[in-house]
Amino acid sequence: MPNRRDFDVRASEWDEHSPRVTMLGAIADTLASKVVLSPEMDVLDFGCGTGLLSLHLAANVASLTGVDNSAGMLEVFLQKAEQLGLKNVSALHLDLDKGEPLPGQYDLIVSSMAFHHIQHIEAVLQQFYAALKPGGMLCIADLDLDDGLFHRDPINVFHDGFDRRAFRSTLVQAGFADIRDVQAAEVTRSVAAGGTRRFTIFLMSGRKEA
Ligand SMILES: C[S@@+](CC[C@H](N)C(=O)[O-])C[C@H]1O[C@@H](n2cnc3c(N)ncnc32)[C@H](O)[C@@H]1O
Repeated sequence: MPNRRDFDVRASEWDEHSPRVTMLGAIADTLASKVVLSPEMDVLDFGCGTGLLSLHLAANVASLTGVDNSAGMLEVFLQKAEQLGLKNVSALHLDLDKGEPLPGQYDLIVSSMAFHHIQHIEAVLQQFYAALKPGGMLCIADLDLDDGLFHRDPINVFHDGFDRRAFRSTLVQAGFADIRDVQAAEVTRSVAAGGTRRFTIFLMSGRKEA
């Protein structure tokens, strides 16, 4: 499980990479413009990492559950929740890509930059659909097609970003309606071939019919 070890090792310094924090801030701002939070909501963050996207939501909802297959990431996620005095945050150490069942029912499922690490996205989206309450919302942020340049190390990167039209069709096939997408963030970084390249990140939302 090299990728899992990799995220475990990187967990403690994940939040020290300022371009990542800036990118997640932009994604979080876009998410905030699409979703109305309420104190009754149960929220799940898939591939939560250290909680850069979702921990700041926790104070405004009933519960926040972080799901990740990296124990190291979840440790940091929970440490940060404790430091923030959040009592409604929990973690699930799960690999949905291996078909492990997702417990619970949620009003909102969010995910940022995790889907390109998922091989069987159709099966995971079906799990999300089943785990959403009627009327619940899914919001996924991930890379637009990146020609394989975003990651210097391609291990366990199953998608070189996503074509939004194809991704939208996958959401439709999983049962989601009212699908919308916007650009949520952009990041410029050096690439292995030399020079720099600008990458864009979309936020796609869909709803389970009430
Ligand atoms: C690029 S990081 C993004 C972390 C966080 N969402 C963020 O934006 O900072 C991808 C995350 O997805 C997790 N992940 C990758 N494959 C996974 C899987 N099959 N099941 C659950 N989590 C997974 C990794 O452990 C990692 O924390």
